[in-house]
Amino acid sequence: MESRKLNLEINKYLLKTKKSKILQEKAAKYLPGGSTREAQYFDPYPIFINHGKGHYIYDVDGNEYLDFVINATSLILGHSHPGIVDRLKIQANKGTAFSGPIEDLINLSEILCDRIPSLDTLRFTNSGTEATLLAIRAARAFTKKNKIAKFEGGYHGAHETVAISVSPNINDLTDDMKPIAGYVGQPEGILNDVIMLPYNDLNVCEAKLREYKDSLSCVIMEPVISSFGYTPLDLDFLIGIRTITKELGILLIFDEVQSLRIAYGGAQEHFGIIPDLTAMGKIIGGGLPVGAFGGREEIMSLYDQSEGKAVIPHSGTFNGNPMTLVAGLETMKHLTPDTYKRLNNLGEMLRLKLRAVIAELEMPVMISGIGSLFGIHFRNEPIKDYRSSLKSDKLMRRILFTALLNEGILLQGQTAGALNILTKEADIDNFVKVTREVLSRIK
Ligand SMILES: Cc1ncc(COP(=O)(O)O)c(C=O)c1O
Repeated sequence: MESRKLNLEINKYLLKTKKSKILQEKAAKYLPGGSTREAQYFDPYPIFINHGKGHYIYDVDGNEYLDFVINATSLILGHSHPGIVDRLKIQANKGTAFSGPIEDLINLSEILCDRIPSLDTLRFTNSGTEATLLAIRAARAFTKKNKIAKFEGGYHGAHETVAISVSPNINDLTDDMKPIAGYVGQPEGILNDVIMLPYNDLNVCEAKLREYKDSLSCVIMEPVISSFGYTPLDLDFLIGIRTITKELGILLIFDEVQSLRIAYGGAQEHFGIIPDLTAMGKIIGGGLPVGAFGGREEIMSLYDQSEGKAVIPHSGTFNGNPMTLVAGLETMKHLTPDTYKRLNNLGEMLRLKLRAVIAELEMPVMISGIGSLFGIHFRNEPIKDYRSSLKSDKLMRRILFTALLNEGILLQGQTAGALNILTKEADIDNFVKVTREVLSRIK
C-alpha cells in the first residue's frame, strides 16, 4: 500500500523532471552514481538546478521550489543575495585568491571571536570537514593523548577519525557500542582510537570517559543533532558532559557547523555551555566554501607559526580566501540579534503549526527542531539517540519528501529544513497548508 503511494508520487516526479532525468543519465557516465556529493542525490534522481533567487530555486525543467534546504542550511541570506553578489563582483575584479592575507581576514575573525563565546582565536579552512579535523588535531597535540570520543550517529565530515559509526546498520550495533567502520577497509588502528558514546545517556558516557580518561584527548559533539532533524540535546546532558570532561582533562569540541545559526553566538551561547574548541562552517562563508575552528588561546597557539615552526602546521591554498571572506562579512552584517529573533520566532511558528496539523490528522508524526531548523519524523516519540532514531518510518518519509517536491517544496531527504532571512509568515502558512494536504493524501 505504502509503496503504491510512493510509486504514484515518483510517477508525478518523472513527468515534471524530464530534463533532470536526461542530465542524471549523462552525469552517470562521468561521476559514480552521477553525483559528487552524497546529500545532493536522492532517488530516482535529483533535480538539476538552473538557478536560485531569494528563497526559491528553479530546476532545468522550469519548476519552481520553495527552498528549505538552502544548500544544507548554509545560505541564511537566501540565494544570490544582492549584497553578497555586489561584494563578490568587486572582489573578483580585485582578485579572487592571493598568497597573502587581506584586511577582511581580520574583520571576519574579529566578528566571529566577538560573537562566539568559546573563541579567543580561530583559523579558517575550506570546509567543515577540515574544521573538525584540525580541532581534533589541536586537542590531541594539546593533551598529548590520541583517542577521541564521538557519539553514535554523529556526523562531523568526511575525515577518517569521525567517519565511524555515523549511520551504521542496525544489525551491526553492539551493546558495548563497538565503533563501526564507515567503509570497507578502514584501518583497524583508526577504529581503535575512537570511543563511541550514546547521546542523552550521561551514566554510560561518564563511565566510558572515566575508563579512557588517560588516553582520551577530546569529545566531539553537536549540541543540536543535525541528522536527527535538528534535535537539541538535553541541557542537563550537555552540562554533565561539560562538567565531566573538564574534571578529567578531556577537551570538549562543539561541532557548530550547522548549529551556529540558532543564535547570535551559536548553540553554545543559547545553552550557556562553553566548549574548549568549536568547529564552524556553512553560514560564515555566505554561500562560498568555508570552515573555521577556534577556541582557547592556549590551545589555538599550537598553530602559531610566528616564532619559527608551529607545533601543528596548517596550510591550505584557499584558506581565508577573499571571496569567502567578503561573502561571510556581508552575511554577518545582516545577522543581527533582531534577525535571529525573527528567524527563530518563524521557526517556532512553523513547528507549532505543523504540530497542530498532525494533531488534527491524528498521525504518528513528530516535529523536531530549534531556532530556524526543523525536522518531520514518522514516529510517535522524540528521538533520544541513534538507536531510537532508527525507529522512524523511512518509507513514509520518502513519500512525503517526494510529494512535497511535486508540490514545489524542497526539503532535505531526511524531511528536515532551515529557514532563511527571506522566509515570511506567508511561506510558513503555504508550507503548512501543502504539508497538510500531502499528509491527508498519503495518510
Ligand atoms: C555537523 C556537521 N559537521 C561537519 C560537516 C562537514 O562540513 P563540510 O560539508 O563543509 O565539510 C557538516 C556538513 O554537513 C555537518 O553538518
